[in-house]
Amino acid sequence: MKRVVFNQKGGVGKSTITCNLAAISANNGLRTLVVDLDPQGNSTHYLMGAAAEGIEPNLADLFEQTLTIRFEQRATADHALPTPFEHLYLMASSPRLEELMGKLESRYKIYKLRDALAELDDQFDQIYIDTPPAMNFFTRSALIAADACLIPFDCDDFSRRALYALLENVEEIRTDHNQALQVEGIVVNQFQARASLPQKLVDDLLAEGLPILPTYLSSSVRIRESHQTAKPMIHLDPRHKLTQEYLALHARLGMA
Ligand SMILES: Nc1ncnc2c1ncn2[C@@H]1O[C@H](COP(=O)(O)OP(=O)(O)OP(=O)(O)O)[C@@H](O)[C@H]1O
Ligand SMILES: [Mg+2]
Repeated sequence: MKRVVFNQKGGVGKSTITCNLAAISANNGLRTLVVDLDPQGNSTHYLMGAAAEGIEPNLADLFEQTLTIRFEQRATADHALPTPFEHLYLMASSPRLEELMGKLESRYKIYKLRDALAELDDQFDQIYIDTPPAMNFFTRSALIAADACLIPFDCDDFSRRALYALLENVEEIRTDHNQALQVEGIVVNQFQARASLPQKLVDDLLAEGLPILPTYLSSSVRIRESHQTAKPMIHLDPRHKLTQEYLALHARLGMA
């Protein structure tokens, strides 16, 4: 199963959700890969800590190979690096992804990620793709490569309006490039159960028939510590309420 976590709005929880769900899959013994397509590299830092700096070979190296004809190409599988967590692997980000984007786009490399990940089908049970906060070449490559799409939503009124455009974008990719792509659902993130506004927002979306997943992720200050110590919640604090919510979400996605 290849799953992309996507929302063109920044800071809605894409990287945090990607890494925490992936860490749970790996902890359950599934061979799991995180693909960090965001040049910011937040998922790469979250999983690797200080070792993220200058990590190689990374996704920029993989994409660069598609632009040059060399006799000795590095195998796709060599770009999946082990993380400190058992069964969890990473295709790391690089700031160079940003520089490569224009070239990749102008030379029609939009299917290269799909082809690369298809080569790894036998090697991984679960692939999670983190995307940048934009509808750009990398995001489209991910939506073309994936079987499923999870959309984090941060209970903000602006994001609510952007959701419709986002779902239309996904539908267009599905129609034009990837019939297999399914919207698994919208993940309500940083939900504050005691505030009435978020509840009303989510109720409105449900009433409008949007595919809101019933497991909401609450807001927790421990997420900051989780990022700083490069330990996903299942390793930092398995009994925490938010960890339990991630586990429930993971189980709901049919991967437990
Ligand atoms: N459940 C949560 N509780 C508290 N803070 C959270 C939670 N989820 C995410 N955050 C915080 O919100 C911020 C944005 O999260 P994250 O980086 O995962 O979002 P993103 O969508 O990947 O952002 P970007 O668009 O920049 O890539 C981070 O500081 C993260 O620690
Ligand atoms: Mg991110």
